[in-house]
Amino acid sequence: MSFRTEWASQVTATLTGTMVTIAGWVQRRRDHGGLIFVDVRDRTGIIQVVADPKGAAFATLDTVRAEYVVSVTGMVRRRPDGMVNLDIASGEVEIVPSQVVILSQSKTPPFMPQEAETVDELVRLKYRYLDLRRSSLLHNFELRDRVLYSLRNFFHEHGFLDVETPALARSTPEGARDFLVPSRVQPGTFYALPQSPQIFKQLLMVAGFERYYQIAKVFRDEDLRADRQPEFTQIDVEMSFMDREEILSLMEEMVKRIFKDALGVALQTFPRLSWEEALHQYGSDKPDLRAGEPLVDLTSQARSVSWEILASAPHVVGVICRQYRPSRKMLEQWTEFARERGASGLIWIMKSEDGIKSSAAKWLDGEELLALATNARLQPGDTLLVVAGPKPLAYVVAGQIRLEFARQENRLEPGWRFLWVTEFPLFEWSEEEERLVSAHHPFTMPVAQDFELLESNPAAVRSEAYDVVLNGIELASGSLRIYRPDLQERIFSVLGLTQDEISEKFGFLIQAFQYGAPPHGGIAFGLDRIVMLMAGAKSLREVIAFPKTARGTDPLMDAPSPVDVRQLDELGIQLKPKT
Ligand code: AMO
Repeated sequence: MSFRTEWASQVTATLTGTMVTIAGWVQRRRDHGGLIFVDVRDRTGIIQVVADPKGAAFATLDTVRAEYVVSVTGMVRRRPDGMVNLDIASGEVEIVPSQVVILSQSKTPPFMPQEAETVDELVRLKYRYLDLRRSSLLHNFELRDRVLYSLRNFFHEHGFLDVETPALARSTPEGARDFLVPSRVQPGTFYALPQSPQIFKQLLMVAGFERYYQIAKVFRDEDLRADRQPEFTQIDVEMSFMDREEILSLMEEMVKRIFKDALGVALQTFPRLSWEEALHQYGSDKPDLRAGEPLVDLTSQARSVSWEILASAPHVVGVICRQYRPSRKMLEQWTEFARERGASGLIWIMKSEDGIKSSAAKWLDGEELLALATNARLQPGDTLLVVAGPKPLAYVVAGQIRLEFARQENRLEPGWRFLWVTEFPLFEWSEEEERLVSAHHPFTMPVAQDFELLESNPAAVRSEAYDVVLNGIELASGSLRIYRPDLQERIFSVLGLTQDEISEKFGFLIQAFQYGAPPHGGIAFGLDRIVMLMAGAKSLREVIAFPKTARGTDPLMDAPSPVDVRQLDELGIQLKPKT
């Protein structure tokens, strides 16, 4: 006997009068006027099975319960008028069973899959296989599969090789904490699970592979958020003999291709902003272009006003809120919002048909206020919220107000608003370590014009690093790499690494560069983040089959878990008592 001749969604009116066999899970069972109605669900959809007490399979069908696994053979017939359900592919027909086989019974599930959204997440993750039975989650995985299929086609067509790199490796320079794996054979030593295949992919360029990609699982021990998981998947890419322009345009083509193939969406050309421009215009290195107009920089205009406090503020930045008439209370809330984020306060200016109102009316005369409003292109009905302070704070706080305003007022425009952010600073100051660290990673190429600043003013050195941002979320990061050993060593020494540290940590890379390294560059996209945004999902957990909770646990397998003392002994590990 075959379990199935048709998928549920294939049983449509064209099969009326034929015998079919379907298989799946019992989604719902109803008794109605002596008849039994059972909805059977498989991966493709739902089909209704109806038996009357005189029917051959009535007795068996009568015993099925929710989530039983059944195979049903029967005749396809049209549903009576008024019973048609046009929402599903098989909604015009039903099956009159001649045989029902119960393949598997189910205990009463802790929750019904279709109602899972109302259930506590811990319970859902513990019974993830039931949670995954709901169609909305299944669709996310179908989407993920389409994205991967499209990606692999794209890479294959463009001459990329899919190469796997080790999962047992050593610490890489992405900057999060490593997950460590103790070695039994080399007691006292540890592998690190890769935070990215960064070094391997660069070595593959030295090897002459020229175009590499990998759908790579990577691991980072960092605090979790909705868009962060401790293990996630990168679309990891590296290319030789390509300049920045060629890399950016090929990768943009790749993104356009997956959106076309997986969603049927044609994307526009991605705008580009340098990091500096992004900060000035949006107060962020991942601007959300859906949230309305850029910020207005009022710094130079503020220099000439009579109010000393504003005139001497290092930077003055405005957020234009179109057709917005906030109450006093709302304005107080905005002021509080700015203060909580480190600004000393907030000034508001409102324009109406009758003139200008402002919280700064005591200190600025009418003409000065009008000039500020005009510079910010205020129309009657608009409100300008102004933040003053040092850079980057004034821009960052104004940027957060811009975003929060759009969210609160439901003004986020729908759509896919991509952009490239380029020329990030090469270094940033780490408060924690009290030293300069690489903003991206230490293999990133500085912008050629800034080479001379490397030692004298490292904070001002721009890099050949670039990000892809979609709707305010960072989707990818990459850079042109340093491929000359002398420049690489120079960067390491600006980072304050000693010769010993350099050779201990990266000696193998510097050595490889001495044997003919081609100019190269690459990028890594967060696959889970792409699918999350494409699916309209709120969290990575909706696009990862077995994700971790916010506390880094897997309630299904109950991981992480204690291990046997014997296992620890073999590894030469002794646990400290808990403090
Ligand atoms: P980066 O560290 O920026 O770059 O990572 C690249 C992309 O990976 C995604 N991502 C994450 N997704 C889910 N959970 C996380 N915890 C997480 N962390 C990062 C983001 C991010 O843009 N080796 C470099 C790339 C290169 O230079 O080629 C790297 O890993 O979408």
